[in-house]
Amino acid sequence: MTRDFSTVGVVGLGTMGAGIVEVFARNGIDVVAVEISEPALERGRATLSGSTDRAVAKGKLAAADRDALHERVHFAVGLDALHSVDLVIEAVPEHLDLKQRIFAELDRVCRPETILATNTSSLSVTEISVATSRPNQVIGIHFFNPAPVMKLVEVVRTVVTSPEVVADVEALCARLGKVDVTINDRAGFIANALLFGYLNHAVGMFEAHYATREDIDAAMKLGCGLPMGPLALMDLIGLDTAYEILDTMYRRGGRDRRHAPVPLLKQMVTAGLLGRKSGRGFYTYERPGSPVVVPDEATPLATEAAVADGARAITKVGVVGSGTMATGIIEVFAKAGYEVVSVTRGMEKSAKVCEAVKTSLNKGVVRGKLAEADRDAALGRISWSATLDHLADVDLVVEAVVEELSVKKALFASLDEICKPGVVLATTTSSLPVIDVAMATHRPADVVGLHFFNPAPVMPLVEVVRTIRTSPEATATARAVCAALGKTGVVCGDRSGFIVNALLFPYLNDAVKMLEASYSTADDIDHAMKLGCGYPMGPFELLDVVGLDVSLAIQRELYLELREPGFAPAPLLEHLVTAGYLGRKTRRGFRDHSHR
Ligand SMILES: NC(=O)c1ccc[n+]([C@@H]2O[C@H](COP(=O)([O-])OP(=O)(O)OC[C@H]3O[C@@H](n4cnc5c(N)ncnc54)[C@H](O)[C@@H]3O)[C@@H](O)[C@H]2O)c1
Repeated sequence: MTRDFSTVGVVGLGTMGAGIVEVFARNGIDVVAVEISEPALERGRATLSGSTDRAVAKGKLAAADRDALHERVHFAVGLDALHSVDLVIEAVPEHLDLKQRIFAELDRVCRPETILATNTSSLSVTEISVATSRPNQVIGIHFFNPAPVMKLVEVVRTVVTSPEVVADVEALCARLGKVDVTINDRAGFIANALLFGYLNHAVGMFEAHYATREDIDAAMKLGCGLPMGPLALMDLIGLDTAYEILDTMYRRGGRDRRHAPVPLLKQMVTAGLLGRKSGRGFYTYERPGSPVVVPDEATPLATEAAVADGARAITKVGVVGSGTMATGIIEVFAKAGYEVVSVTRGMEKSAKVCEAVKTSLNKGVVRGKLAEADRDAALGRISWSATLDHLADVDLVVEAVVEELSVKKALFASLDEICKPGVVLATTTSSLPVIDVAMATHRPADVVGLHFFNPAPVMPLVEVVRTIRTSPEATATARAVCAALGKTGVVCGDRSGFIVNALLFPYLNDAVKMLEASYSTADDIDHAMKLGCGYPMGPFELLDVVGLDVSLAIQRELYLELREPGFAPAPLLEHLVTAGYLGRKTRRGFRDHSHR
């Protein structure tokens, strides 16, 4: 028979605790909500009221249900109020000694049959459990932030947690409308083990001035469809909490340097910049606890004049290449009103590209997204050529030929001879150093990377890559062109993977390593990232779509350039590629797609 949890206790009403109280009370369970002092209790009460009031304002909760919810919560200072609850969830700061002290006290205060749970993100549940006389009734119940919204709960069993306790907690999660994954006690469990290396890396990029906070966040939102960028997420998690989680994961998780907190984090915590909860972290908020970002001294000017500052006028654009990317890019420029010269290696190829552009534009017409007249005008702006000589009078060239350095260098040397002075020369390379291509010309100051995402007409992001030789005018021109195309251009340095791939692929590779270590299954890992972190696809779904060979190649490049031991490609990924399991395109990757 499963336990009936009619009253639960929550210890610590900060970022997580207040949300956990709401989850229980919303589901008809009485809650004893405990804090360390009256002011802290008031803060917790205010957080709960703020959250439920917002839910009412959004029409997600009836006013009467909100009032009933609040009636179910009993607030108290001190653990003694927890003497008769069925379950306690602890959500105090991420320090082992503090948690151990609280568990020892809970063990004394609570009834013998009460289950004691921790919401820790990275500490050892086992080490917390041995502070009690009932380690078999201690378990991890790891909620995600914001607890009322995120569907996932990681249930963490230690080697001594009794199977009945695990089953009871799993049943409770279902009653709360949550999806649970049950796993063993390992630093970071599933989601944080995959998330925090990525977050720390993003902070490192920001610290190194590799890109601005806005550009790093926009890149991951628009390039990967994430609900928020990594720096905004750090602010939501709380920088003090994030620091402790990273520090613990570094110490417990094999001293992976990627988990060693970036020094800037410690400085920000010391300076009281804790994120949303203190009103300032990577961004500045309206007031402490508010989700509303307000402009500060680092906010870029958003006016058109500012974007175009120093930019050169562009009316005619050359696009070199005949593949998927070139075809999409031609369409994007022509639709935005630019005159386009398409150059391929022969008129047959030009005819094919022309057909592909027409087909794509026609789809837009059929879907009602493009007027027939606009389609015709766009097509009328494109001229088709098989010789680079026709690029003599363009203002911008976008190169999208095969991803081979020798081919690109030869092409840029030719462009250098043919194009007029002042032209911006752009490469769409996703993995080669832009500076190598730039140095094939006598005008490296005019060379930038314009990394479009596939499919170019759909994806809203372009990475603008500036090398150490790129002039501010060329960068400004590239940014202004992105804006004119209706895309978000994010500016970054010339390093392997730019922003998106450098942050995305190590995470995917880590997921493969986790699977390889048999810590969890592909399904549970995919679930965890989708339901715990709001990712549109889980890592294995995404790897099968991107292609395992492509993913392996990108991961190898990152590893070779940055020499980061943690970036070494997962052996399982290499084996699957060797076996020809490349993902959807071969009908088998991490999953079998032959019947779909
Ligand atoms: N922030 C996140 O995104 C997140 C997500 C999942 C899990 N967690 C985990 O949840 C736990 C809490 O993290 P948080 O971000 O909510 O921290 P927080 O700093 O926002 O809140 C902690 C609360 O605990 C209270 N507290 C401290 N000592 C106490 C005591 N002795 N008795 C009662 N209350 C006490 C504090 O007053 C504070 O309100 C940590 O273990 C963290 O790793 C955090």
